[in-house]
Amino acid sequence: METKTTAFSVLKENEVQFLQSLLAKGGPDEEEYELFLDFISQVDEQGAQEIREAIKPILNEETMIGFAFTKPYGYAGDFKIIDMIYAQKTNEDPRYTKWDKWYHAQHAAKAVRNRKDFFKQVLAELDEGADHPKEVLVLGSGPATDVFEYLTDHPDSGLRFDLIDLDQRAIDHAKEKNAKFLDRLNFIRMNVLRFQTHKFYDLIWSAGLFDYFKEKHFIYLLKKYMAFIKDGAEMIIGNFSDENPSTGGMHTILEWHLNQRSPEELVHYAVEAGAEEKNVFVDKEPLGVNLFLRVKKPANPFKNPESFISWLTINNN
Ligand SMILES: C[S@@+](CC[C@H](N)C(=O)[O-])C[C@H]1O[C@@H](n2cnc3c(N)ncnc32)[C@H](O)[C@@H]1O
Repeated sequence: METKTTAFSVLKENEVQFLQSLLAKGGPDEEEYELFLDFISQVDEQGAQEIREAIKPILNEETMIGFAFTKPYGYAGDFKIIDMIYAQKTNEDPRYTKWDKWYHAQHAAKAVRNRKDFFKQVLAELDEGADHPKEVLVLGSGPATDVFEYLTDHPDSGLRFDLIDLDQRAIDHAKEKNAKFLDRLNFIRMNVLRFQTHKFYDLIWSAGLFDYFKEKHFIYLLKKYMAFIKDGAEMIIGNFSDENPSTGGMHTILEWHLNQRSPEELVHYAVEAGAEEKNVFVDKEPLGVNLFLRVKKPANPFKNPESFISWLTINNN
């Protein structure tokens, strides 16, 4: 009893007991999901520390929560955890199972899975038509599970991918996963801040990366990469919404910090990067948790005879 008072100064005794009851049965049951989320979302840093202390036995790499908190690769959002979210990896050890199920049921995890589907849909639309091959650049490609699934479903795809990631372990993992498709993939180990190219892409995609950049770097990168897309092509940047219901748990308990943003902020960044507002659109996956800033580079009327004629007509009237 004395130990409890010393270790827990912010959490009330019934709250500590609640956490201990969850530990005893291997995690929350479905009907307790909301209660547990609300509880961890309203605590301050001291409260978060105490929650972590109370659930210490599961705060290790065996669970999704523990993996996210301990960050065995040295940073939040590594290729491994993203791939485990995609696969809904659930530890079958009864001490951990329900914790993992809770994790995968959270909006943030669902939004990560939804963004993979969103990207595959974008790729399918780009793949239509005859003017192949088309070039796609992926920034912060991580496990490249999205690309793997797309190419598995579309073996005759006319898309070619350049994939940039800073982490060699992510690239090794992605190469192994995509072993069948290496003839169409070019992995580049580099910081996206440093990458340079003379190529022009049909699409530049990035998800799970710009959320880690401050405004200044976000705008800098958007401006930089807009120069690498073809006229009429798009750059799409995923960014978690500032209305993400999983924020409390992510930021305080898991220490997984993102720069979550509103659609208005994203549009503002695009305009700051030099885009015209009429060419900027904010899309989202079904939950509205992962937003996608879509910036289109206007078609150059001088390169395309048809639009050149309409450009002439408009400008002569
Ligand atoms: C959260 S993961 C997202 C992976 C993938 N885009 C997805 O949605 O499945 C972010 C990836 O970006 C990489 N990364 C982080 N900072 C980077 C940087 N400055 N330049 C290149 N890659 C970076 C990480 O190594 C990690 O693999």
